Amino acid sequence: SLDASNQPDFAIPTGVFAETVTSIEHYTDRLFKFRITRPASFRFRSGEFVMIGLPNAEKPIFRAYSIASPSWDEELEFYSIKVPDGPLTQHLQKIQPGDTVLMRKKPTGTLVNDALLPGRRLWMFSTGTGIAPFASVMRDPETYEKFDDIIVTHTCREVAELKYGQDLVQALKADPLVGEMAHALRYYGSVTRQDHDHTGRITDLMRSGKLFDDLGVPPITPEIDRGMICGSKAMLADTKAVLEGFGLQEGANNKPATFVVERAFVD
Ligand code: A2P
Repeated sequence: SLDASNQPDFAIPTGVFAETVTSIEHYTDRLFKFRITRPASFRFRSGEFVMIGLPNAEKPIFRAYSIASPSWDEELEFYSIKVPDGPLTQHLQKIQPGDTVLMRKKPTGTLVNDALLPGRRLWMFSTGTGIAPFASVMRDPETYEKFDDIIVTHTCREVAELKYGQDLVQALKADPLVGEMAHALRYYGSVTRQDHDHTGRITDLMRSGKLFDDLGVPPITPEIDRGMICGSKAMLADTKAVLEGFGLQEGANNKPATFVVERAFVD
């Protein structure tokens, strides 16, 4: 807990950044976004994650969070689930501007342009908070330099959970840095537990071909298409199998290939 002056109850552990919350937006009772100050010395590649914690215990609990802001942004943005009894998020969901958030110093991750071989079209497949790393990648000019056609898919249970991504794509089109390039970006939102213009799991939409028909693109091939996947463990496994069915192969930082995978934050 933080005291009335928002000062940490416990000493800041060594080797971590202590940053200040600048803004918070709650989307649903399960989802919120927060932004913090960025340490001057902190560098990362768009798509990477960091370990985040709160100064509310002598040994704070840290959890992996994808950085949702692009590498050029002067603040850092995160998109989080709220789990009522989640070790970190039960506290994190209550933060206010001015509060302190801890961040370990080393960013890492595989959802980065460097882990993919060059290609023509980039697919970013996300469910739930799995859109966070793509919020970073889609705001990075490098993405538009590397790919001619960029498609981000976001599948959630309910329409209200799509808002973060929809707002982002809309704001991007007006962004002074990437707005002009953003005509290459297409967004495909679908929901699985309500009516909407697109419904269904991304895996089913690919297997049936409906996704490709709706977007007016041919089915995925290793000659043209590259993929990034971020979601739950089950979603990763199933989406990976679909991409492998199209002939794509999983890559890593030290071995670039045609798709990469990373699990979205859990609790
Ligand atoms: P569904 O409603 O059919 O379970 P969650 O909040 O559970 O992580 O789910 C987020 C979205 O991901 C939901 O739309 C959910 O669909 C979908 N989803 C869950 N599991 C998978 C999977 N194995 N493959 C593809 N999509 C999935």
